[in-house]
Amino acid sequence: CTDCPLAHSRTQAVPGEGPASADFLFIGEAPGFNEDQQGKPFVGPAGKFLDQLLRSIDLRREDVFITNMVKCRPPGNRDPYPGELQACSSYLDRQIEIVRPKVIVTLGRHSLTKFFPRETISRSHGKPRRWEGMILYPSYHPAAALHQQGLRGAIEEDFRRLPSLLHQSMDDRQ
Ligand code: URA
Repeated sequence: CTDCPLAHSRTQAVPGEGPASADFLFIGEAPGFNEDQQGKPFVGPAGKFLDQLLRSIDLRREDVFITNMVKCRPPGNRDPYPGELQACSSYLDRQIEIVRPKVIVTLGRHSLTKFFPRETISRSHGKPRRWEGMILYPSYHPAAALHQQGLRGAIEEDFRRLPSLLHQSMDDRQ
């Protein structure tokens, strides 16, 4: 893909990975250094923490779909520019369409505001909502919890509620 300037600075694109039948689809912000090197999402320190959080609720990363708002690393890990988010958005839209997860988990502010532009993460994390027939569940970003110890408990708590959302979504469908 050469739809935005990140094509020129990336090592490789990081489209995301996971089973097309996944119940949970996690959306981060953008690949960082390690992801850009390996071509896989969430494989650096934030990824290790995400693995731990998943294990704490009896999930393995192989069970879930993991992707990002933009698929190529912004230089120096800066925030993606609006034009880059825009250029990349149809890839994520298509991933959501194909996987049709029961629960979309937004990690951090960037993915939350794709769905709810005026929401803040501090106000909305841990509270499930409906979005186009799926459950949308905002959580803090694992990297934020690595940098601010105070958020660790909050993100662990956000993840603890995830399994019960699955039951809720199945009940709704009966
Ligand atoms: N942070 C993200 O948002 N995505 C990754 O893939 C890695 C770190």
